[in-house]
Amino acid sequence: MATPCSSTEPPVGWPAAVRRPYVVINMAMTADGKVATAGREVTTFGSSHDQKALYALRATADALLCGARTVEETGATLGTGSSDHRAARRRAGLAPEPVRVVVSGSASLSSEAELWKRPGAPIVILSAGKASKPNLQRLRDLEAEIWASSGDQVDFPAALAWLANRYGIRRLIAEGGGRVNATLLAADCVDEIRLTWVPRIFGGQAAPTIADGPLAACLAEAVRFQLVRVRTVGDERFLRYVRAGRDTILLPAESTLPPV
Ligand SMILES: NC(=O)c1ccc[n+]([C@@H]2O[C@H](COP(=O)([O-])OP(=O)(O)OC[C@H]3O[C@@H](n4cnc5c(N)ncnc54)[C@H](OP(=O)(O)O)[C@@H]3O)[C@@H](O)[C@H]2O)c1
Repeated sequence: MATPCSSTEPPVGWPAAVRRPYVVINMAMTADGKVATAGREVTTFGSSHDQKALYALRATADALLCGARTVEETGATLGTGSSDHRAARRRAGLAPEPVRVVVSGSASLSSEAELWKRPGAPIVILSAGKASKPNLQRLRDLEAEIWASSGDQVDFPAALAWLANRYGIRRLIAEGGGRVNATLLAADCVDEIRLTWVPRIFGGQAAPTIADGPLAACLAEAVRFQLVRVRTVGDERFLRYVRAGRDTILLPAESTLPPV
């Protein structure tokens, strides 16, 4: 069982003593709570404004994190976007590109994933004890850096602390999928959730959702967030939640950054 993280410091002026980055989950969801169709044919369904918001949020991050299936199925390269976004990063004192972190416990991430074809920031694989040596070597040969948990699952508190120390990561945006999100939430490593609520219905019991892993057996065990902002643009709603019950509400100052 992973040790719960403590995160009670504000992310601006992040002190050296903080053990892990501030973690934001960013996802688009249909009105019936799905993040892809059941057969995974549809993986992108937000508007152009949603895409802009995604890149603006990426421009605030030291690192982006995705699960292996999201990287493979969506063709994600975890890049920065336009020269405007790179300029915003420079103004905010960030590296030109965020570190690209992929969660792949068995190191199964395909060598054919688009991610490998786009040069840029370092690629880090968070793997676990079940990863085979040949798979790990294959990813090393692709020039990824590997971090491995000893158990069968990635120990996120330990992995995030390592990312903070190794790359100085203070703000990390997690972009799914549901299985990664569920483990991050189970370890209490999520400080904020950005949700784009898209008025479509996908249906399907097997369609992925925001958090695809058991988190609560009763209401009292549900992971609680507090709604701090709602914006409507066209027919989409942009929701921002922060983790409820922290000593400090963690709201990063973003005044120098593009609106998200
Ligand atoms: N609408 C949106 O905003 C949005 C955003 C992102 C993704 N999506 C959709 O979500 C779907 C993918 O989600 P998903 O839940 O199936 O896959 P995922 O979370 O992207 O990736 C799952 C893989 O990540 C690794 N993994 C996840 N948690 C782990 C843990 N705690 N320890 C070790 N390894 C772990 C495992 O890799 P190994 O197999 O190598 O062990 C696992 O097979 C896609 O259809 C995508 O389109 C939608």
